[in-house]
Amino acid sequence: PAQYEEWAAEVRRLADERGAVVLAHNYQVPEIQDVAHHTGDSLYLSRVAAQTDAREIVFCGVHFMAETAKILSPSKTVLLPDLDAGCSLADSITAEQLREWKAEHPGAVVVSYVNTTAAVKAETDICCTSSNAADVVRSIPEDREILFCPDQFLGAHVKRVTGRENIRIWAGECHVHAGISPSDVRSQIAAHPDAEILVHPECGCTTSVLDLVSNGDLPADRTRVLSTGGMAEAAAATTAKQVLVATEVGILHQLRALNSGTQFIPMNDRAACRYMKMITPAKLLRTLQTGYGAIEVPDETAAKARRAVEAMIAIGE
Ligand code: 13P
Ligand code: SF4
Repeated sequence: PAQYEEWAAEVRRLADERGAVVLAHNYQVPEIQDVAHHTGDSLYLSRVAAQTDAREIVFCGVHFMAETAKILSPSKTVLLPDLDAGCSLADSITAEQLREWKAEHPGAVVVSYVNTTAAVKAETDICCTSSNAADVVRSIPEDREILFCPDQFLGAHVKRVTGRENIRIWAGECHVHAGISPSDVRSQIAAHPDAEILVHPECGCTTSVLDLVSNGDLPADRTRVLSTGGMAEAAAATTAKQVLVATEVGILHQLRALNSGTQFIPMNDRAACRYMKMITPAKLLRTLQTGYGAIEVPDETAAKARRAVEAMIAIGE
């Protein structure tokens, strides 16, 4: 629509004027995904934030993502268009809880998902995202015990694919992905028996989908567990007529734009993250007009957290 064209032109003009790069996560609303300079998954966006020459980073995503960008580029201004855009998964472990857990398991290596606060990252040895979690775990010597937090479904998935036994998993979850259940999977597969299946490892249904594959009820070559960035690559390459997608519904915009010949169907169409949707077109414009939303991380916390995030970024480079 015309009003969005005007808005998009103004966003790009103000971003140029401020020397800002606009980043958007794959779960953002379509207008924001389309106007951003870079749209992608958590790992990709952290890499862009670490490498950009821009003076300022406007992060259209949630708080922990903007905080990660600030940790990686401390001399830059990082703006989040709504500072209340949180994350239920990041809220499922505090730095204090992690310190207590570490005290119970001295000598263990702490692996934290990037969906955590800077204070939790500061207590972490190495971070991971959904696209590199298995590689991060494989990089840790076999004889070292691992404390994995905070996502129980990603933790269980990593344990399964790496075969690692000495890994303890925190019982946190993302309310959106936990809500995509085995019963959603059963009913959607029954309704779309020939569809390919893409599952985000934070989903509550991940184990049951993979059990269906091991039982021979789902073909292994049509079923994949992927980060949102991995889903975008798979969507661009597929020749399937239908693909069932188990993750936050914002990704569908990206997948449909990449491949108009395939029908992308949500595994659960109520899987929307209200935090991601707090970043509206109007709030993005406000941030570019006023500089609202500066992220601050205390120097000492940032320095400790940076080690854990940089250790992650170095893997696979
Ligand atoms: P990825 O984009 O890294 O797959 O992360 C998903 C997520 O839950 C972010 O909120
Ligand atoms: Fe957090 Fe879940 Fe929302 Fe991602 S989808 S930001 S993990 S609450």
